[in-house]
Amino acid sequence: MTEWTNSHHLALTVTREGHTIPVFMAVSSLSLSALQVQLGRFLHPEERAVSKGAEQHHYLLGRHAAKLAAVDFTGVAANNIRIRPGVFGQPVLSCPGYSNLQVSITHSAGSAMAVVFPEAHPMAVDIELLDGDRFLPPLTPAEAALIAPLSYTSEEQTYLLWTAREALSKVLRTGFTTDLELFNVKSVAMNGSFMVAEFQHFLQYKAISWIAGNMACSLVVPQRSQVDMAALQTLTSQVS
Ligand SMILES: CC(C)(COP(=O)(O)OP(=O)(O)OC[C@H]1O[C@@H](n2cnc3c(N)ncnc32)[C@H](O)[C@@H]1OP(=O)(O)O)[C@@H](O)C(=O)NCCC(=O)NCCS
Repeated sequence: MTEWTNSHHLALTVTREGHTIPVFMAVSSLSLSALQVQLGRFLHPEERAVSKGAEQHHYLLGRHAAKLAAVDFTGVAANNIRIRPGVFGQPVLSCPGYSNLQVSITHSAGSAMAVVFPEAHPMAVDIELLDGDRFLPPLTPAEAALIAPLSYTSEEQTYLLWTAREALSKVLRTGFTTDLELFNVKSVAMNGSFMVAEFQHFLQYKAISWIAGNMACSLVVPQRSQVDMAALQTLTSQVS
């Protein structure tokens, strides 16, 4: 098993129709004890009431990654930035001086990833540990045929498309409360070491998916936006 051994944050260059969209991303894989030591530095006072054990670790990892990205975006101290769940569980970011800033958070198996972006340019992230013992709904026959020629194991194929769907469900704010068929993928193509998937019903989005160590990762962005893939590689390059 390989794991992220560090935390990283960077500016992700995203361009669209000649304009640059400010986007910041972070990953965190700190231990629960390391996070607890610096709680006061990165949690807003209203974020302190958290549960215990693995759930607490996931929560703190997600908030830590989100704050790393949000501080890079705003320059505001992490403990002045508040992220609270909205009515559908979606993270709602409040930051002094900023009114249209959003965040997407994901955590899995001791790591978390977050992306902070302007409301005008919706985005979302999802990561999942590649876990052969976990049951995931199978790919549709059409999806299986699309992805078969790509050089992934069948486990990687399943997880890459699962994270792509899950990230789409976060952009839409529904999560998986709807028919999964709505998130079906209609095309996949390789761009370097990244898989770019388009959706059957949500043509305005695409998923950029990749394998980083023992994780499948997806970033969903508006279809016509261009993302600096090298930065994504750098972000997760500590996976060894
Ligand atoms: C939203 C959902 C796709 C998240 O996927 P997951 O693999 O469980 O978890 P991840 O770690 O990738 O993501 C969790 C983060 O998603 C975000 N999130 C939760 N609900 C969201 C929504 N409706 N829209 C966008 N983001 C959401 C939160 O930031 C959450 O982290 P936080 O609670 O620490 O802030 C999934 O939980 C889901 O489908 N939820 C809808 C069904 C539901 O509400 N079930 C109840 C729990 S069984």
